[in-house]
Amino acid sequence: MSTSLKLKGQSALVTGANSGIGKGVALALAKEGANVVINYVTHPEAAQEVVKEIEDLGGNAIAIMADVSKEDEVQHMFQEMFAHFGTIDILVNNAGLQKDSPFKDMSLADWQLVLNINLTGQFLCAREAVREFIRRGLVPERSKALGKIICMSSVHEVIPWGGHVNYATSKGGVMMLMKSMAQELAPQKIRVNSIGPGAIQTPINRPAWDTPEALNSLLTLIPYNRIGQPEDIGNLAVWLASDDSDYITGTTVFMDGGMTLYPGFSTNG
Ligand SMILES: NC(=O)c1ccc[n+]([C@@H]2O[C@H](COP(=O)([O-])OP(=O)(O)OC[C@H]3O[C@@H](n4cnc5c(N)ncnc54)[C@H](O)[C@@H]3O)[C@@H](O)[C@H]2O)c1
Repeated sequence: MSTSLKLKGQSALVTGANSGIGKGVALALAKEGANVVINYVTHPEAAQEVVKEIEDLGGNAIAIMADVSKEDEVQHMFQEMFAHFGTIDILVNNAGLQKDSPFKDMSLADWQLVLNINLTGQFLCAREAVREFIRRGLVPERSKALGKIICMSSVHEVIPWGGHVNYATSKGGVMMLMKSMAQELAPQKIRVNSIGPGAIQTPINRPAWDTPEALNSLLTLIPYNRIGQPEDIGNLAVWLASDDSDYITGTTVFMDGGMTLYPGFSTNG
């Protein structure tokens, strides 16, 4: 691989990287020269396919199983990563899910499941990454920052979402987790930012795009008039992980085709 690659020699961990956005991000980081851990919790064969795709491009990847909401599994995953790649430079906290229901019917189990994976999972992975960044210290030939954390949030960290109260609450929590970590850790040269995707074409939201009627209805919420792709998010993740964004910390970059622009007001409300 050429020396002009933006993430050459850096090691990245992407959670939930055997599907959708996580897969797109893992491929994009690998194309820029990063060694990548493909975390998964189900479908090991899909994780191996991503590893193979990266290896076919001349990159390095391994798949590691861990449920991000389980402290011991997360710690074990990081130890396995360090044994294989030596350290971590980039964490992409991507794993997440939805368990939707009307508020009055929402079970405590579904509330806790979504919070445990979407929010506590990001805390557990970020804490292990930060511990390693500080233990290892700065490696100036690899990056100007001690380490970079990218949290996969959502437009729903700011857009309330009826019928999805647990999910929207988890993403609102991710926003404050990200900002508070960024504030505390900036003096140590650790950068923490979020990506706020709008509608990206992945399995999580299949009913919203898999018929022409559903897609047309979705597009009324997207001024840019197309659904996003995992590659869009991959490009942004590369930039946020690279020294090109070295002065950015504590920010959510929305990548949503304008979904957060209140499109319902475009014709006078
Ligand atoms: N697709 C969108 O429109 C959209 C929009 C905004 C935010 N997001 C966010 O992007 C992230 C990725 O979602 P996606 O759209 O690619 O959906 P997806 O369902 O394709 O991928 C989610 C991934 O997370 C993994 N995962 C779930 N629970 C896990 C656990 N306990 N431990 C480890 N991994 C686990 C899944 O196995 C899968 O690999 C999520 O955080 C989601 O909230 C997606």
